[in-house]
Amino acid sequence: MLRTSPILASPLSALKSVLPLNSRAKAESIRASPAFDGATATEVSDSLFEQFAWLYIFCRENLFRDDTVRMIHSVWPSGGPAPGEKLIELGCGPGFYSCGLAWRFREISVVGVDRSPSQLKWAREKARALGINNCTFQRDNVLDLSYPDNSFDVLLASRLLTVLPDRERAVAEMYRVLKPGARCFIAEPRYAFWASIPLITMWLLAGITHFKNGYREPSKATVLSTREMTSLFRTQPWRRSKTWQEGRYHYALCEKG
Ligand SMILES: C[S@@+](CC[C@H](N)C(=O)[O-])C[C@H]1O[C@@H](n2cnc3c(N)ncnc32)[C@H](O)[C@@H]1O
Repeated sequence: MLRTSPILASPLSALKSVLPLNSRAKAESIRASPAFDGATATEVSDSLFEQFAWLYIFCRENLFRDDTVRMIHSVWPSGGPAPGEKLIELGCGPGFYSCGLAWRFREISVVGVDRSPSQLKWAREKARALGINNCTFQRDNVLDLSYPDNSFDVLLASRLLTVLPDRERAVAEMYRVLKPGARCFIAEPRYAFWASIPLITMWLLAGITHFKNGYREPSKATVLSTREMTSLFRTQPWRRSKTWQEGRYHYALCEKG
């Protein structure tokens, strides 16, 4: 039976305790912290996900679809992982899926990677609050991952491709770091309007603060068409791969040969 994470069961109440919503001051203090996970001040300050981390976290915890059960059934058709499996989540943001899966499956090890130190800081706080020690977070570039080839049994990415400049490169990195026989599950929004809500809101906030120029993110999300999603995952020689649509999301499930 699937274990239900308290955070996933009650996102708003959990968010209040783990990620206080009215903590603008806390977000400011993260930004002011000297520990940026190795990022330069420019790298930190030119990302909306960094400057307005609290806003994205609120959307993730309260508004977006929770695909946890769909992920589990897709990557582990037998119901769950084998002990010792290694899972990586690319562009993990505030660690919604990384923490949720590490909490449910204590016998696996999970690493969430993202380039935003503030998102990673929230993710680590969440893991600490859940009392899990099988989940770590690392600053990394999904277009040039620091992990060797054939490192992971499972790879997840949610809402990542919409914000990336080079999606083929990201899919090539996914393929490279997976072990032979390993699987990846990707969830992407299909509609630009819905996908853009966090970006548009962050840009609006940027416009009324002194941080208004020079962010690297586009003004709205570029979503993939059904054909583009299928073609993108055909760029790597998966043993098996499929893409499909359900409501507002595209999904891809691929297995490396
Ligand atoms: C739209 S958020 C998705 C977060 C989370 N996966 C979710 O489901 O809500 C995209 C995340 O990708 C991260 N990101 C964007 N480009 C990246 C890159 N090149 N390397 C690592 N992370 C990146 C951003 O910092 C942000 O946290």
